[in-house]
Amino acid sequence: MSEQLVFEPSAEAKARTWVTAEQYEAMYAQSVSDPEGFWAEQAKRIDWIKAPTKIKNTSFEFPNVSIKWFEDGVLNISANCIDRHLPQRADQVALIWEGDTPGTQDHITYQRLYDEVNRFANVLKAQGVKKGDRVTIYLPMIPAAAYAMLACARIGAVHSVIFAGFSPDSIAGRINDCESAVVITADEGRRGGKAIALKKNVDDALAKTPGVTRVVVVKNTGNAVAMQDGRDVWYEAEAAKVPAECPPEPMNAEDPLFILYTSGSTGKPKGVLHTTGGYIVWTSLTHQLAFDYREGDIYWCTADVGWVTGHSYIVYGPLANGATSLMFEGVPSYPDASRFWQVVEKHKVNIFYTAPTAIRALMGAGPQWADKHEMPSLRLLGSVGEPINPEAWMWYYKHVGKERCGVIDTWWQTETGGFMITPLPGAIPTKPGSATKPFFGVQPVVLSPEGRLQEQTKAEGVLCIKDSWPGQMRTVYGDHERFMSTYFQQYQGYYFSGDGCRRDEDGYYWITGRVDDVLNVSGHRIGTAEVESALVAHPKVAEAAVVGYPHDIKGQGIYCYVTLMTGVEGDEALKTELRNWVRKEIGPIASPDLIQFAPGLPKTRSGKIMRRILRKVAENDFGSLGDTSTLADPAVVEDLIEHRQNRG
Ligand code: WTA
Repeated sequence: MSEQLVFEPSAEAKARTWVTAEQYEAMYAQSVSDPEGFWAEQAKRIDWIKAPTKIKNTSFEFPNVSIKWFEDGVLNISANCIDRHLPQRADQVALIWEGDTPGTQDHITYQRLYDEVNRFANVLKAQGVKKGDRVTIYLPMIPAAAYAMLACARIGAVHSVIFAGFSPDSIAGRINDCESAVVITADEGRRGGKAIALKKNVDDALAKTPGVTRVVVVKNTGNAVAMQDGRDVWYEAEAAKVPAECPPEPMNAEDPLFILYTSGSTGKPKGVLHTTGGYIVWTSLTHQLAFDYREGDIYWCTADVGWVTGHSYIVYGPLANGATSLMFEGVPSYPDASRFWQVVEKHKVNIFYTAPTAIRALMGAGPQWADKHEMPSLRLLGSVGEPINPEAWMWYYKHVGKERCGVIDTWWQTETGGFMITPLPGAIPTKPGSATKPFFGVQPVVLSPEGRLQEQTKAEGVLCIKDSWPGQMRTVYGDHERFMSTYFQQYQGYYFSGDGCRRDEDGYYWITGRVDDVLNVSGHRIGTAEVESALVAHPKVAEAAVVGYPHDIKGQGIYCYVTLMTGVEGDEALKTELRNWVRKEIGPIASPDLIQFAPGLPKTRSGKIMRRILRKVAENDFGSLGDTSTLADPAVVEDLIEHRQNRG
């Protein structure tokens, strides 16, 4: 599809926008030339207990990277997301909850959110949680997940939410890394009509977490679960014992708000740490401007609160703006492929935000599911998580948006806290497949892989960011060295995103995907190293190498080359065994798509695995293997090609 396809903002979008095209240019220029002045002004959107006088104090200079925003400001995020809205919107719905089972729903007003969060905060206090303590949250997509997060924020505890699809081992690793003594979970979750054994997973994880003293269990499905005396308590029973009101803790702008684990190119997942002041300014401002959010809009982000998108754009950004945010427990295909569209019509959703993988899956089910729903309430569509291919963009625009709604493709990362490159719907014309232009304060640069700055407008290379923005992560929890070496060492003076991109002649950014060993499978980040270490932990596996390959629906699939222990026969049964093994070790999202048993892996004479060759074979593109002269044993490649698993 041509890059020349340009969609101008509609007259309606132009009429209602917070920021016009001219204002975008002027504000962007100021945000870059005078960040202090710009962000001092933007920070006024937040209720500060003590307004900041110091705005920006940041350095990207390796090895002294330090990032502080609004550093003498004092605030509380839960008060900003709840208390301050009560005078004008106590009876307005803050959260609409749509259950997995059609017909189950809840409407939570700001007053009720206040009551629930205060109660939850007092339960945590009664369990001994204090300011600065880490609390692990392993909950399904139920309102209690938002209550628990906001309750932590209220008392100054640092939450670490773990996606409810992760395995006991993954949970244990994350709990131990941040040394959290308290875990919040539910009896079970529900997804697509199936029950998920959350409490059971926590029980299994806790066999490996000596530091956990308390598990608070929310009743969700009501099915029986084992409770360990002295360690496990029911939330509902504890809530009945505590006072109704819990005053919000005054927090410094740079006090930690949460840790969120995410995959990197090496080693175990990193605890991305976000702090208080900059994060809430960033998420609320980006939410308001990119979604053109106005009073009364019904906004639905389909992400899970276990990922950053759920943190920033289901909970914190929208609630800080006094929005009505819809939270959906289920999946797009249950009970059938019209579920999203039924929910849009039922709750009169105006703004809908989802991932390309969901769009492609629904495309695959056929347009009839979306076509039979007129969805007149819809005004704006958003996309996040991976590059959206122009075909999916057009399908979304046509069959969901009925050629009436704008589409914003938002590029950002767990590390960035919120949107970095995104159209503002009334100001920036869109091109299918491009995330378009940087948000205020974001200075993207394109470097050659060797690090040369590409100064011409039209360029291709790795995507870095030149200066700090308020929503940026501050460190890797407990490992500032790793933070600096991951993001600031290779391209010194810049934040390295890990993504590649193209910038076209109009200065539009087109993200091309990860340039490191991180896979993006259905919008989920998975480190190839994590899958490899899960595989080699299996007693029959001697060696493993994992790469991505193009997958129609998932974006990327997981391709595993496995060398077995001598004497072990590789057959279909063993493939199934290994698949289940990885699911158990990491979680179902890391399930291998293709497994190839390889007697040897292509290595250099110094023993380094040549991943470039493995990627090419996995992509079924072995005609262009490039230089193989440094291989220790060229015959290995012949065998790999002969037994390749992707012949599509
Ligand atoms: C990818 C999710 C292209 C990218 C918010 C990034 C995207 C990684 C887009 C971060 C997009 C996210 N276009 N690629 N609009 N959005 N990505 O940390 O590779 O789960 O580095 O954050 O997803 O994934 P994460």
